[in-house]
Amino acid sequence: MTTATGKRDRVVLAYSGGLDTSVMVPWLGEKYNLDVVAFTVDLGQGEDIEKIRQKALKTGAVEAVAIDARNLFVDCFVFPALMAGALYEGKYPLATALGRPLIAKLMVDAARQHGAKAVAHGCTGKGNDQVRFDVTFQTLAPDLKIIAPVREWKMSRDESLAYASKHNIQVEATKENPFSVDLNVFGRSCEAGILEDPWVEPPSEAYAWTVDVEKTPNTPEYVTIDFLEGKPVGLNGNAMDAVPLLMELNRLGGIHGIGRIDHIENRLVGIKSREIYEAPAAVILHDSHRELESMCLSKQAQRFKTIVSQEYADMVYNGLWFSAFHQDLAAFVHSNQRFVSGQVRSKLFKGTCTAVGRKSEHSLYSKDLATYESGDQFDHEAAKGFIRLWGLGQQTQAQRQLLKDGRGFTLPGLLGPQ
Ligand code: ARG
Repeated sequence: MTTATGKRDRVVLAYSGGLDTSVMVPWLGEKYNLDVVAFTVDLGQGEDIEKIRQKALKTGAVEAVAIDARNLFVDCFVFPALMAGALYEGKYPLATALGRPLIAKLMVDAARQHGAKAVAHGCTGKGNDQVRFDVTFQTLAPDLKIIAPVREWKMSRDESLAYASKHNIQVEATKENPFSVDLNVFGRSCEAGILEDPWVEPPSEAYAWTVDVEKTPNTPEYVTIDFLEGKPVGLNGNAMDAVPLLMELNRLGGIHGIGRIDHIENRLVGIKSREIYEAPAAVILHDSHRELESMCLSKQAQRFKTIVSQEYADMVYNGLWFSAFHQDLAAFVHSNQRFVSGQVRSKLFKGTCTAVGRKSEHSLYSKDLATYESGDQFDHEAAKGFIRLWGLGQQTQAQRQLLKDGRGFTLPGLLGPQ
């Protein structure tokens, strides 16, 4: 791939600074004759992206770009998913899955800006992340060639290390992490190594954000989250920006051992895998948000929302962020959340986040109707007529079918013919 002027074509590489993506810089040159524009995004993984950018240049990238996309990530990906109640298979708050379409979109922008003809990422051929990247590239920029070196090279870790030293790539002398980890401000995903045995309890070393519950404080901590139309906007009565709010909840939740999720999940590519998630802020926020919804949504809206939540989670997990179906779901969520404003107070203690109080100016909870004490406004007389009609269908069925001709209820444990 060489242009008419003799200059090499360019590829935008999703660059983390680790061994694999560093080796890719010279490898893409040798194998594909491409110049590399290294691309690093800060989604709140707590790394120094400028340092990573410098490393990319030292490693041979012709350009290196580092972008802080934390606000964009939280405002446009994390909070919408939270408002949708999106938990994959009821458990995983989707931190990694939410980050991929954003990284891919920013890479497409960079490819345009730097006149690149290709994009490359370090995903393996077994995971969901390759799907999320490739589908996004394919959707937003079908003209760009997609290269996934790990899918095609057959290098072992030792071979990668040898390749790195041949190309003077500096590899940090840290002990090899026994796990494969991905993280951003919404959560940490950890898999492989000993975790591949689903019978083995995850060792403490698998966790980095949360304290073992045995070592958490013996006194609880209370937090109050403020929501405005479904979106978290404050903590303990103080307005707070999204990113610092997540960071603070990760810190507080972590101290109390909250947010550990051990998930045997169904990957899109047809395999079951075991992943350990740590997502203190996500767990606290999802729980508080659901509690507020129980006050502000009608019974029907609340029930229907569970279906939307599941669809939304699958859509995100399966890499279909840039779809019209997503827009349809988001339109429902937006409308559904318009009365979800108020406060939820939760108790953080010994690995659990328990809502202990909630209030909202739009609350559908009416003490006057619910109370067993004086001031009761509920019409007890009306209950009698309501129940007459409510049970009418079942009563008719019993007479015409179930109890007819001495048939009785023949299901086990129920009354047979007398
Ligand atoms: N299983 C999760 C997902 O597909 C996380 C994958 C993250 N990768 C990792 N190295 N742990 O979204």
